[in-house]
Amino acid sequence: MAKKLAVIGAGLMGSGIAQVSAQAGSDVVLRDVTDAALARGKDAIEASYAKFVSKGKLTAEGAEQALARIATTTDLDAAADADIVVEAVFEKIEVKREIFATLDGLVRDETILASNTSAIPITKIAAATSRPERVVGTHFFSPVPLMALCELVRGYKTSDETLAAAREFAEGIGKTCVVVNRDVAGFVTTRLISALVVEAAKLYESGVASAEDIDIACKLGFGHAMGPLATADLTGVDILLHATDNIYTESQDEKFAPPEIMRRMVEAGDIGRKSGRGFYPHD
Ligand SMILES: NC(=O)c1ccc[n+]([C@@H]2O[C@H](COP(=O)([O-])OP(=O)(O)OC[C@H]3O[C@@H](n4cnc5c(N)ncnc54)[C@H](O)[C@@H]3O)[C@@H](O)[C@H]2O)c1
Repeated sequence: MAKKLAVIGAGLMGSGIAQVSAQAGSDVVLRDVTDAALARGKDAIEASYAKFVSKGKLTAEGAEQALARIATTTDLDAAADADIVVEAVFEKIEVKREIFATLDGLVRDETILASNTSAIPITKIAAATSRPERVVGTHFFSPVPLMALCELVRGYKTSDETLAAAREFAEGIGKTCVVVNRDVAGFVTTRLISALVVEAAKLYESGVASAEDIDIACKLGFGHAMGPLATADLTGVDILLHATDNIYTESQDEKFAPPEIMRRMVEAGDIGRKSGRGFYPHD
């Protein structure tokens, strides 16, 4: 496990990664651009630790010690002595590339640079550095303290040693890893959910079955915890359309061609739970 970890971005994912890493014993420096964002991240971590304590899954002393291992800063230089840096800022390639280029000139030669991107090719991020062999994808899932999966993504030049170090880090904080050996758009998880949502939306669009019945079929027929259309509403139809469009553009594989209904829903603002309506009405 990394002795010293730097997490760039104190949002939903960055604060979660910092939280589980500190709980596992790492010293963590959490960096964001504003004090307000850092305060929000630290508050979220504190609240989550408190929940684990109230459920008897963590002692109050353990929570206090873990919290004390997390330092917050707006200064990227604080990442200079990290063994591993995990970036979890907005899903924007230019922002990520700029951070990786800066980190490249800042950290030690042997430091691993990881990105929590859900869809941007690791190779594109790694190309902003002079050490693409030391750049890797560590795709955690939300909420990080509860979700057991970490998708490890090998960029075109990621070395075996870097992949092994990323695995050691992710397993050290209690996650189970799957390895994406080729840096394909959408990795494994986003490709799978996109393919399922696209087909479910096509069945719904063409009147083959109702949204409820499509979801029930997946839940009771395959044991899925949630049907694909309910998942689309939860994640955001806009987010899934964007991801699917991106996979389709890169792969030219027809099975990822988003059905028209998803585009119309997004244009109409019916993007799921956050807008009050998606494939289902939401109060
Ligand atoms: N939300 C999810 O369910 C989820 C799941 C898996 C992966 N991801 C990926 O994780 C990453 C972060 O997502 P999120 O949901 O935590 O986003 P978020 O919007 O909650 O947080 C992003 C944070 O990055 C900060 N930031 C922006 N520019 C920065 C910079 N230059 N330096 C430091 N901090 C900066 C912002 O202030 C913000 O606090 C994205 O790449 C996203 O695709 C998200």
